[in-house]
Amino acid sequence: MSVTLDWIASAGGPLRGTITVPGDKSVSHRAVMFAALADGRTDIHGFLEGEDTRATAAIFTQLGVRIEAPSPSRRIMHGVGLHGLRAPGAPLDCGNAGTGMRLLAGLLAGQAFDSVLVGDASLSKRPMRRVVEPLAAMGARIVTSAAGTAPLHIQGGQRLHGGDLVLPVASAQLKSALLLAGLYASGVTRVREPHPTRDYTERMLKAFGADVREVDGWISLQPGAVLRSPGRIDVPADFSSAAFFMVAASIVPGSDVLIEDVGINPRRTGLLDTLRDMGADITVERRRESGGEPVADLRVRHAALHGIDVPPARVPDMIDEFPALFVAAAFARGTTRITGAEELRVKESDRIAVMAKALKSLGADIAERGDGAVIQGGAPLHGGVVDSAGDHRCAMSMVVAAQRAQAPVTIADCANVATSFPGFVELASGAGMSIRPLASSP
Ligand code: S3P
Repeated sequence: MSVTLDWIASAGGPLRGTITVPGDKSVSHRAVMFAALADGRTDIHGFLEGEDTRATAAIFTQLGVRIEAPSPSRRIMHGVGLHGLRAPGAPLDCGNAGTGMRLLAGLLAGQAFDSVLVGDASLSKRPMRRVVEPLAAMGARIVTSAAGTAPLHIQGGQRLHGGDLVLPVASAQLKSALLLAGLYASGVTRVREPHPTRDYTERMLKAFGADVREVDGWISLQPGAVLRSPGRIDVPADFSSAAFFMVAASIVPGSDVLIEDVGINPRRTGLLDTLRDMGADITVERRRESGGEPVADLRVRHAALHGIDVPPARVPDMIDEFPALFVAAAFARGTTRITGAEELRVKESDRIAVMAKALKSLGADIAERGDGAVIQGGAPLHGGVVDSAGDHRCAMSMVVAAQRAQAPVTIADCANVATSFPGFVELASGAGMSIRPLASSP
């Protein structure tokens, strides 16, 4: 049964104090997947207890992997080796998670058994041909709906082969799906992306002992890898979840927050550069390495922002942060232009349309473009009712916008925030934002 959940958010006090946001979603998905396929036991710390990543863990339980959860945000995975998964007795439900479904499509294409991947209403509308077609070029057999969407019927027992695969879009999900299939392929798998994207799969494959290299823009995986558990994986806090606090603290006068232990992989931190270009006061403190990933504390103080042209080359490095950037731009002096971001239209919602409609209805001056938007900042936002379209990142961005609105904002359809950010309401209110759940109805 689906439950709708609305929130009411209004102008809050300054954001203050020290906060820790939950674990990184991308890293949590991959940690579970690689640990499941490895020989040996992997102790995952900082695992994201979100619906997306829990769905992935539940799928591996269905595939015969023993997973212990001794305490929140910890998983002990008893890996079964590359060929140790067992046939599931029922469809595998990825929930809202595009990352789960696309990476699993690659992983399951190489198994000896058939499987079916299903998702929720939003995931069932998202494009899957982009992953199914290159996998087919490797010898996989996967049937989508007529519209090229889930359910994905994956036929096992295929002989996969590597080869040179050129991705049509900059997508870490596609790259990762092909590398996962490459674990089961004969020959070298080489993937080329139009622009570098987050490299967690490459880093984690290396940590598990696979031979992955990047030479002249080609990411290559040697065949015959055996994955061996590194013993422990520490998942950093999710930069994309920190993003809401970075924007909120930047736009609410008097704010000064410290966001601890945030993953600052350079393929994720485009918003940091963009906000700084807009005049934000953000310092990166206590830079260090944790589990092979750069992490740091981010100190964010209120600052007067101004509009900029967001460099299109930076889009993949901040692909999940545009809903939050729309809000920053609405409160910045002057014009912000977003171009080259058409991928936003095929995320958990059409994020350009959803954010433009919501902010416009509150009084912001935004013109939608096919591949982005032009936002004239500075118009005062009044209150009203906005719709997140069931998109977790749009819902949280609308909460941030409400912190500077002149009257309360009701945000409809916020239940999916639990996919990536369990405890958001408590953490946000503890930091000074004004937000409370309004209604919960079947
Ligand atoms: C992700 C890749 C990105 C991102 C998503 C997580 C990943 O998607 O938007 O939230 O973990 O690989 P695309 O690969 O579709 O760009």
